[in-house]
Amino acid sequence: MSSLNLPSLLHRPRRLRRTESIRRLVRENELTVNDLIYPVFVMEGENIKQEIPSMPDCYRYSLDLLLKELADTYNLGIKAIALFPLIAEAKKDNTGTESYNPDGLVQRTVKTIKREIPDLVVITDVALDPFSPYGHDGIVEDGKILNDETVEVLVKMALSQAEAGADFVAPSDMMDGRIGAIRKALDAEGYINVGILAYSAKYASAYYGPFRDALESAPKFGDKKTYQMDAANSREAIKEVALDIAEGADIVMVKPALAYLDIIRRLRDYTNLPVAAYNVSGEYAMIKAAAGYGWIDEKKVILETLTSMKRAGADLILTYFAKEVALMLR
Ligand code: PBG
Repeated sequence: MSSLNLPSLLHRPRRLRRTESIRRLVRENELTVNDLIYPVFVMEGENIKQEIPSMPDCYRYSLDLLLKELADTYNLGIKAIALFPLIAEAKKDNTGTESYNPDGLVQRTVKTIKREIPDLVVITDVALDPFSPYGHDGIVEDGKILNDETVEVLVKMALSQAEAGADFVAPSDMMDGRIGAIRKALDAEGYINVGILAYSAKYASAYYGPFRDALESAPKFGDKKTYQMDAANSREAIKEVALDIAEGADIVMVKPALAYLDIIRRLRDYTNLPVAAYNVSGEYAMIKAAAGYGWIDEKKVILETLTSMKRAGADLILTYFAKEVALMLR
């Protein structure tokens, strides 16, 4: 008995933490494989699997090997992917012509995946950066990013992805008005069931560095601050999301996730739409690097990090850890 004598404590929160079975009963949020979207990188060629130096255990695949990887991850329960292409420098131009080539890498990849694994949800990225020699998400003129001209290209890109069989198109470009323009065009062409996953609150973030290595898409001049959001802003996320919802978004997204958990929570409270969180490349790289030094327990930190996104209010999580998590949750 303690000499302090605290017999009259009515509430002892530790009662609910006493055993794992009790903790499970009162657990408020749970990460499951159903929440995960696996971002993958595709490149031209055959029998290629290249590790991305700044993203250990994450690879660019040629289509044949990508299919094998996706068959594996599908069997692990990962039913959705976000597709990103590595485009040869020779195919890049300022207006991103290759992005709506019906026979382009993305289009061929989507067609093949939908033929081989029809039930896999395929989400395609709508933005110019992998297709532009400037690495910007829009058309460049005199060092500036043109908005409305870019939206015209984004519409063509989204339509050609829909035609290839994409389930969702995901504009990640942050041009004004693109969600509405894309919804209108999809409907006009009969793609009423193709959804829009809108990168609504996408911040100008230094956490995208490793992704730009993967796609060789780093901006060749300046930064993305005239279209991506200022990290200091939170009300602005509501403004962006309100516009995207009014324009027809089906799912809204916050990106990055870890440094923006407050934004995930604000959007969760604001809208009834599903909210997605993008656990981006830099967040992945930080965990891999620290774990590589033996400084943190990789598996535990991954689960804790992704659970924090669920707790913040994310319904879906895009994460390069998807396969690792699926294996852990099995
Ligand atoms: C570009 C795009 C980026 C990411 C997804 N789509 C990079 C950027 O905006 O520069 C980053 C994803 C990641 O870092 O994991 N439209």
